[in-house]
Amino acid sequence: MPHSATDGAASADLRITPLVTLGPFAEPLRAEAEMWRVDFVRRLFEDHATGANRFDRPGERLLGAWHGARLVGVGGLNRDPYVADDGIGRLRHVYVLATHRRLGIGAVLVRALLREAEGHFRVVRLRAASAEAAAFYRRLGFQESAEPNATHLIPVTPLR
Ligand SMILES: CC(C)(COP(=O)(O)OP(=O)(O)OC[C@H]1O[C@@H](n2cnc3c(N)ncnc32)[C@H](O)[C@@H]1OP(=O)(O)O)[C@@H](O)C(=O)NCCC(=O)NCCS
Repeated sequence: MPHSATDGAASADLRITPLVTLGPFAEPLRAEAEMWRVDFVRRLFEDHATGANRFDRPGERLLGAWHGARLVGVGGLNRDPYVADDGIGRLRHVYVLATHRRLGIGAVLVRALLREAEGHFRVVRLRAASAEAAAFYRRLGFQESAEPNATHLIPVTPLR
C-alpha cells in the first residue's frame, strides 16, 4: 500500500489506502449515503465511532479509494461474524460515490481487499445489497452462495 489503480478504466491517479480513522475527509461519502438511505454505510460510521467494528482484528482492513484528495469509495474486510470459522472473511460496506461509478473504482477496491485477505482467509463471503451489486460481484469472479447470511463467495488464493 498504497495500491495504484491498474485495472479497468479507473484513472491512473486513483489510490487505495488503509483507513484507520474516518475523519472529515469521509463526510461527503457519509452524507451521500445518508441521503440515499444506504444503511450499511451509516453502520460503517456508527460502528467505527463506537468501536464496535474498526476493522482492526487479524486479517481485517478498511480501505479507501482516493481520487486526488477526495475519498470516492470505501470497502472493508472483516472476519465473517456469521460463522465460527476464522478462515472465512466477509466484505462489507463497499460503496463508491455515485459520480464515480462504472469507472472501475469498485473493482480496484474489491481486488485490493481480496489481496488483503490472502494469508488470512480461505474464502471471502458477502451479502449483495441489490441486483446491481450482485452483477458487480459476479463480474469480479464471485460465485453465488446458498449458504445462510451470504449471497456470494470467492475462494482466496493462499500466499506462497
Ligand atoms: C456496487 C458498486 C460498489 C460498484 O462500484 P463501481 O465502481 O461502479 O464498479 P465498477 O466500475 O468497478 O464495475 C465493474 C463491473 O461490475 C459490473 N457492474 C458495476 N455496477 C453495475 C451495475 N449497477 N449494474 C450491473 N453491473 C454492474 C459491470 O460489469 C462493471 O464493468 P463495466 O462497467 O465495464 O460494465 C457501486 O455501484 C456502489 O457503490 N453502489 C451502491 C452501494 C452498493 O450497492 N454497494 C455494494 C454493497 S453489497
